[in-house]
Amino acid sequence: MIDKNSPIPIYYQLEEKIKTQIDQGELQPGDMLPSEREYASHYAISRMTVRQAITKLVNDGYVYRKKGTGTFVAAKKIDQPLQGLTSFTEDMKARGMVATNRLIHFKVISPPLSVMKALNIDSSTPVYEIQRVRLADGLPMALETTYISKHLVPNITEKLLERSLYDYVENSLGKEIGEGTQIIESSTVNQNEITHLNVKKGSPVLLIERHTYLKDGTPLELVKSSYRADRYRFMINMQR
Ligand code: GLP
Repeated sequence: MIDKNSPIPIYYQLEEKIKTQIDQGELQPGDMLPSEREYASHYAISRMTVRQAITKLVNDGYVYRKKGTGTFVAAKKIDQPLQGLTSFTEDMKARGMVATNRLIHFKVISPPLSVMKALNIDSSTPVYEIQRVRLADGLPMALETTYISKHLVPNITEKLLERSLYDYVENSLGKEIGEGTQIIESSTVNQNEITHLNVKKGSPVLLIERHTYLKDGTPLELVKSSYRADRYRFMINMQR
């Protein structure tokens, strides 16, 4: 119940109550929440207070509003650990989800300066520029652009890009992937991401730039990804 004498704000108590219902599965992804009016009369609180709680839940990605219909429980966010250099395919498999890819763009280019620097190559080295939508159980999660030297990783085909690139590098080419660095920053979607990630204008994304190296130190890839911030959270374990 809501405790009106508590120093904890009422909107916060309601917000926590709904969050618990979602976390414990009483409210499932896709379920419609009771209306503001129903919450207000059930708990004898004002609609303004209910709206405040629900707006907070919308902003935190727990629920979403559909114009003229109501408020619905959102799909659970994926917690992605930041330790370990894993591939998208492995990440999804670890969660019991199936990774698929939609190829948007695939060509061989002469590398721009930033790619030359990242891959430690000169302008005469041909580079694959690959753009894929990465999907989990059929839902778009990220739009990813990969730059990889054609000399280092030859014979990439459209067919191959339906599968895991890391799997190809390690198991077909026998090259050992060693380490990587990653920078994460926040942004909002551009037109390309709106189209391919199937999200609304203004939606938040997490931009990730990954530089990956083989065990012998050779730069393997430069990857720029936009992950849907409504579906993804990054998690790190810290020790002191
Ligand atoms: C993640 C990383 C990319 C990496 C990719 C490889 O998505 N952000 O930097 O290239 O995994 O995934 P896969 O082996 O499934 O193609």
